Amino acid sequence: MTVIEVAGLHRSYGDQVAVEDVGLEVRAGEIFGLLGPNGAGKTTTVECLQGLRRRDRGQVRVLGLDPERDGDRLRRRIGAQLQSSALPDRLRVGEALWLFARDGDGGAPLDQLGRRWGLERLWRRPFAKLSGGEQQRLFIALALVNRPELVFFDELTTGLDPQARRATWDLVRQVRDDGATVVLVTHFMEEAELLCDRVAIVDQGRVVATGTPSELIGRGDAGQRVSFTWPGADAAWLSQLEGVERVTRRADAVEVMGTGPLAVRVAAALAGRGVAPADFRTHHPDLEDVFLALTGRDLRA
Ligand SMILES: Nc1ncnc2c1ncn2[C@@H]1O[C@H](COP(=O)(O)OP(=O)(O)O)[C@@H](O)[C@H]1O
Ligand SMILES: [Mg+2]
Repeated sequence: MTVIEVAGLHRSYGDQVAVEDVGLEVRAGEIFGLLGPNGAGKTTTVECLQGLRRRDRGQVRVLGLDPERDGDRLRRRIGAQLQSSALPDRLRVGEALWLFARDGDGGAPLDQLGRRWGLERLWRRPFAKLSGGEQQRLFIALALVNRPELVFFDELTTGLDPQARRATWDLVRQVRDDGATVVLVTHFMEEAELLCDRVAIVDQGRVVATGTPSELIGRGDAGQRVSFTWPGADAAWLSQLEGVERVTRRADAVEVMGTGPLAVRVAAALAGRGVAPADFRTHHPDLEDVFLALTGRDLRA
């Protein structure tokens, strides 16, 4: 079942085009990743999906509703942690949960939520006294307090240390395993590769690739890389081989980049010259390689 359907979504801020023709489909029960460099239009897109921002044009259906026309009805069924979330410094954890909970219509009991997200111990602690990881746990709990069918997390783990980030990943998986659909905005490729069932890579307001992380990695956009050491020899001739795009050498180490069955070709060529490096290694591309291949290596604002 499709939970989110977007086609031809456009949104500009004055002359600044933020979203230029985004199309997406998110299915029930998946963790869907929206990936892209800074300024790619991710936050604008998810804000349009939640009815927090108007679109200039395009078709958007979220849980069968139009976020602009049915915003109130929609927001009752979704939960969100926004990129720029903050709460009053003195608001206590328990008070925040109580404030966000819609009474009387089937929300999770607060003490149960508190236990689930490890907040019981922090119940009376003011927001300003929480660590980054504790704040994020609270934001996740707030996003879930009304048992949403669909949850948006925008840069959930930015600024967290590695332990807190991993703990947060487990929480996101629990949300999905509890039956909700999750849209996760992130620029951490490791996070997307580990967590997301499917991802869309967005660049300059457009979707440049969609698929499961392994589909995208397997498509070959990122290329292949092999490395080995070969003291003293000139390896430049390797660039003549089919599929080889670049040969670099640093001291005795040679690195060959290219496409296709690169390792087999390079190994065969070396063997043909009677060379058998002991440390011949092939590097499999990961989602970060795919991401950089598709969105470029230039720094973004
Ligand atoms: N309120 C705003 N007013 C003007 N420009 C904005 C506003 N919000 C975002 N932008 C611009 O729109 C583009 C997309 O921003 P955003 O959707 O926040 O991207 P992302 O979340 O992928 O970093 C950026 O160039 C950003 O500077
Ligand atoms: Mg953003």
